Amino acid sequence: MSALQWGGRFGAAPDAQLLAFGTSIEEDLVLAPFDVKCSLGHVEALRGGKIVSDAEAAELASALAAVAEEIRDGSFANYARSQPFEDVHGAIDARVREIAGVAGESLHAGRSRNDQVATTLLLYAIDRAQAGAKRAHDIATALAARAQEELERKTVVAGCTHRQPAQPVLLAFVLVAWSEPFVRAASRFAGVARAGRASSPLGSAALAGSSLALDRQAAARALGFSRPSRNALDAVGNRDVALDLAHAFVRAIVDASRIAEELIAWSAPAYGYVRLGDAASTGSSLMPQKRNPDPFELVRAHAARSAGAYAGALGTLCGLAPSYQRDLQETKSAAIAIAEDGLATLNAFERALAAVSFDRERMARAAVAGYTVATDVADALIAKGVTARTAHALVGAVVAQAEADGRALEARDLAQLAAKAGIESLQAPLDATTSIGAKQTAGSTSPGDVHSQIDEVRTELASLEPQLA
Ligand code: ARG
Repeated sequence: MSALQWGGRFGAAPDAQLLAFGTSIEEDLVLAPFDVKCSLGHVEALRGGKIVSDAEAAELASALAAVAEEIRDGSFANYARSQPFEDVHGAIDARVREIAGVAGESLHAGRSRNDQVATTLLLYAIDRAQAGAKRAHDIATALAARAQEELERKTVVAGCTHRQPAQPVLLAFVLVAWSEPFVRAASRFAGVARAGRASSPLGSAALAGSSLALDRQAAARALGFSRPSRNALDAVGNRDVALDLAHAFVRAIVDASRIAEELIAWSAPAYGYVRLGDAASTGSSLMPQKRNPDPFELVRAHAARSAGAYAGALGTLCGLAPSYQRDLQETKSAAIAIAEDGLATLNAFERALAAVSFDRERMARAAVAGYTVATDVADALIAKGVTARTAHALVGAVVAQAEADGRALEARDLAQLAAKAGIESLQAPLDATTSIGAKQTAGSTSPGDVHSQIDEVRTELASLEPQLA
């Protein structure tokens, strides 16, 4: 039996090297279970349209179940690599024909690989979007739990901008900030799964629909789609959901890479804020003392690589005529590579994150270093009626003096400021905890607000849970 699904109109066999150039079998083997599912959907369309008898449909379904078993036990991969198949879709069709004999010859009636690929890719995207949502949800949940723990411990740390000490904050506040992108990622992934289920391209055939009376409703229903797609020409060339899936993964691991970068810095002895446990650290083959945060560095690198792959996939669509073009094969492999790598990267990130422990004393010492309470002092002046500009200048001068003296801001600086500003006295936070407690705006680092932030994150995560099932 030929490995190709076409050839009748050709006089000679295809060039072996061009065939090898065109195959996507290694990249799309991961689609095998989804292609079987898609094919079962098509059997429903054939049965519903009386294109095959109930008996033939049953034979096809049982052959497909046998292929599903071969996919599970790993033997199908060997089969798919044993002949020059163009793609996994052709390999499954060939195997069904081997198993089901004559009945197998009808599986492809009214179907093109164009609607088959589009449908199979959607089924895959829905599955991986759900897996991505679950991972993002787990990461956000873990970060919210750690935020709660650090809120109870009242751990403080220097909040930075430009990597320079800015203002004291609660570590819990930072951990909530880290959880937020993963709450959004979980919801973004859930949206991709929802968009994927909206409509089924199956039955669009090559581009124009079919003159066979395929029961597209039955197929859509069997596969869990809301309805059949509206326009066949659009459906065979539509890669929106595959691209959105890739985008959601790239966004999630780019977000992870930003936290990874922070933890890489924090684990350097110059900071010493965190220690990465032995299970997640690596050593040096030469320097015996080394302790390296490789998993976080790799998260960073995978984010960059995936962003590039995503740009490549998007580029593939640029100027591509509507309908199916073979270029679309490359969007398929890119979306798959990004999603598989994205899941592995999120998994590694989650495990490395769990291995991080905090040096709370070190953080507390750093929290007020670099005059991080200066803004509170200026705010105290403003609250007493001094203009913002004057307050900024007065406190700046006091900071410069303290820096020259090699000391922190002290009570006597407040007295001096009061005198200069012509006010009776000045009270202002000079330590991290007082500074943090003084914050009044919603969304701030004050303990009460961070407490609500954790509650809200948890409520949002709980509301996402039904969409993960
Ligand atoms: N291997 C292709 C893909 O995976 C399918 C080819 C479909 N159609 C065609 N006329 N070449 O996208």
